[in-house]
Amino acid sequence: MIKSRLLAARSDLTDLSSAKRILLIIGGGIAAYKCLDLIRRLRERGHIVRVVMTKAAQQFVTPLSVAALTNERVFTDLFDLDDEREIGHIRLSRDTDLIVVAPATADLLARMAGGHADNLATAILLATDKPVLVAPAMNPRMWLNPATRRNVEQLKRDGIDFVGPAIGEMAERGEAGLGRLVEVPDLLAAIESRFSSASDDKPLAGCRVIVTSGPTHEPIDPVRYIANRSSGKQGHELAAAAARLGADVTLVSGPVSIGEPAGVRIVRVSTAEEMLAAVKHALPADIAIFAAAVADWRMATPNTSKIKKSTSDAPPALTLAENPDILKTIAQLRKGRPPLVVGFAAETNDVIAHAKKKLKSKGADWIVANDVSSPIGVMGGERNAIHLLTSAGVESWPEMSKAEVAIRIVTRAAAHLATLKRDAAE
Ligand SMILES: Cc1cc2nc3c(=O)[nH]c(=O)nc-3n(C[C@H](O)[C@H](O)[C@H](O)COP(=O)(O)O)c2cc1C
Repeated sequence: MIKSRLLAARSDLTDLSSAKRILLIIGGGIAAYKCLDLIRRLRERGHIVRVVMTKAAQQFVTPLSVAALTNERVFTDLFDLDDEREIGHIRLSRDTDLIVVAPATADLLARMAGGHADNLATAILLATDKPVLVAPAMNPRMWLNPATRRNVEQLKRDGIDFVGPAIGEMAERGEAGLGRLVEVPDLLAAIESRFSSASDDKPLAGCRVIVTSGPTHEPIDPVRYIANRSSGKQGHELAAAAARLGADVTLVSGPVSIGEPAGVRIVRVSTAEEMLAAVKHALPADIAIFAAAVADWRMATPNTSKIKKSTSDAPPALTLAENPDILKTIAQLRKGRPPLVVGFAAETNDVIAHAKKKLKSKGADWIVANDVSSPIGVMGGERNAIHLLTSAGVESWPEMSKAEVAIRIVTRAAAHLATLKRDAAE
């Protein structure tokens, strides 16, 4: 019911090239200043931006700066009679293609989840029939607080889309973690992908997609494990992008500390063996994208109790066993192989040569290769520069946000699947 309301709401979005009407609600967080850059970039792309600022937001940026950048008046007060006659909160909530809340404070999320309408921002959010994209920004402890977790879960169930938060330094000295507003280019990509997916008429509607994401944790003993630096950001963005294109998505995720994408079924696993079992269980699928950084090895026999450090003994020798190769297993299935199998190759040298070998040896259809030693900090970072290897050759894409990489890969996958289906029908 919520989904159909959202689909209906989104169906009135027109194509990417035409101007969109965006209602930006700025909350009272330290990251509010980033909205000035966001407004500038949205306007550069031809979009019309109207802004509502909460009372707290006006402590961080002035309505005057926002009005100068939008070339429109800024709305701040629910009880402004002029506004109510000319353009009341109901019209503000409807005369738009998308509502973006950035930065979304913990307080604003709580009031949205509770259905409050005590100021202009919350009244609009309660009255709207348009899609809403929320970009939270707050201290990591606020984000991880059980109250915020509950509110976020509730909002996701209500059909609200989230982008971020990102991991990084906080404005407060010495504080870091999950809670930063996503960088402006990523917010921009998230906004524009809402328009593109809506106009594409959901090319993955009726398709099943499996995405793996994040690292795996292979236990050494009850307290230690073998892992890697994968954050899961690229895999989660892929799952979100596939869902936005209408797919029924199962995201099999290793242990990560990032937000969950909206509209996907999440299966949480820890080890490579669990991940393979979850992938097999999620079959059949039309597309399988293996973006997880699966540990190649696990302990042959994990210790059942903590390995004790002893000054006299030599360090323990860890005997490793090879983990199952999830990509190869699924790509080489005789029965039930997904028509499009995409693997990821994280390399630190000779990226394309290694990826070419991987494409052949695993039996995958595509390999997405990236150089994880690159200075842009692919592992854990927000951006990626990939090479796409297919039977047609190698394409090297420029550096872009992981959200943009995801939407491009998934759009390509949808087109490829359509060609396969057309060929099969002929
Ligand atoms: C200096 C300062 C920075 C703040 N930064 C944030 C923030 O980044 N995220 C957040 O959720 N709240 C932050 N707050 C608290 C909010 O401003 C406060 O909860 C307010 O009620 C939010 O109102 P609004 O959601 O209507 O904008 C900050 C407060 C101060 C004084």
